Amino acid sequence: MTHLHHRKVRSFVQRAGRTTAAQKRALRDLLPRYGVPFQDSTLDLAIVFGRRAPIVLDIGFGDGSALLTLAANHPDRDYLGVEVHEPGIGRLLLQLERAGLDNIRIVAHDAVEVVRRMLPAGAVDAVNLFFPDPWPKKRHHKRRIVQPDFVRDIARALKPGGTFHIATDWADYAGHVTEVMDGCGQFVALTPEQASCEPLFDRPTSKFERRGIALGHTVTDLHFRRTG
Ligand SMILES: C[S@@+](CC[C@H](N)C(=O)[O-])C[C@H]1O[C@@H](n2cnc3c(N)ncnc32)[C@H](O)[C@@H]1O
Repeated sequence: MTHLHHRKVRSFVQRAGRTTAAQKRALRDLLPRYGVPFQDSTLDLAIVFGRRAPIVLDIGFGDGSALLTLAANHPDRDYLGVEVHEPGIGRLLLQLERAGLDNIRIVAHDAVEVVRRMLPAGAVDAVNLFFPDPWPKKRHHKRRIVQPDFVRDIARALKPGGTFHIATDWADYAGHVTEVMDGCGQFVALTPEQASCEPLFDRPTSKFERRGIALGHTVTDLHFRRTG
């Protein structure tokens, strides 16, 4: 049977989630200031941030707490956060307003499309993917965001020598990442000792990490460098 319409497999499910009144206000009033609308063409990141500084991409920032800590600790870097979960985006916007930080911009859209369509080649210094949704059931593995096409797109967006940091509390996901990254051929895996010398691998703890640890999971940090 021929399928004329292929449904796109996404790494997330849009849930009706509870967005508070304050978060709704933030999405309405603050997203125009801190947000970058999705576009099907490459961005000029120097225009987006109003300066040229190292760019860190944070994929699926969740409630934004780790991203906010990083941006506050590293005012000399610019952070592009991508998330689809509205309450999380609203929460980060509220915190951004309170903290008065200006080195974060948000794209409220599927990161797979953002990386492919909006990022110029070699534009990004580092990519953070902290606690991606694990999709533990075998029949859902195709939903995992780490897939061969996605990591090829990440490699294209990174500068040669740029870094890719993935953290997960699912042992099986760590194995999956290692397999996909090996197959890509555009990254080298770094040892923990090598990674400890790279300031871009900074990772504050997040709600998801704490939850994983409470469930008895072990957290694995995987560090890669773009070759070339
Ligand atoms: C388990 S949470 C981790 C959040 C955060 N990184 C942390 O460490 O606390 C995964 C997040 O990724 C987001 N996400 C999943 N797929 C995404 C995609 N394709 N584009 C943007 N965000 C995505 C989800 O909405 C969710 O908030």
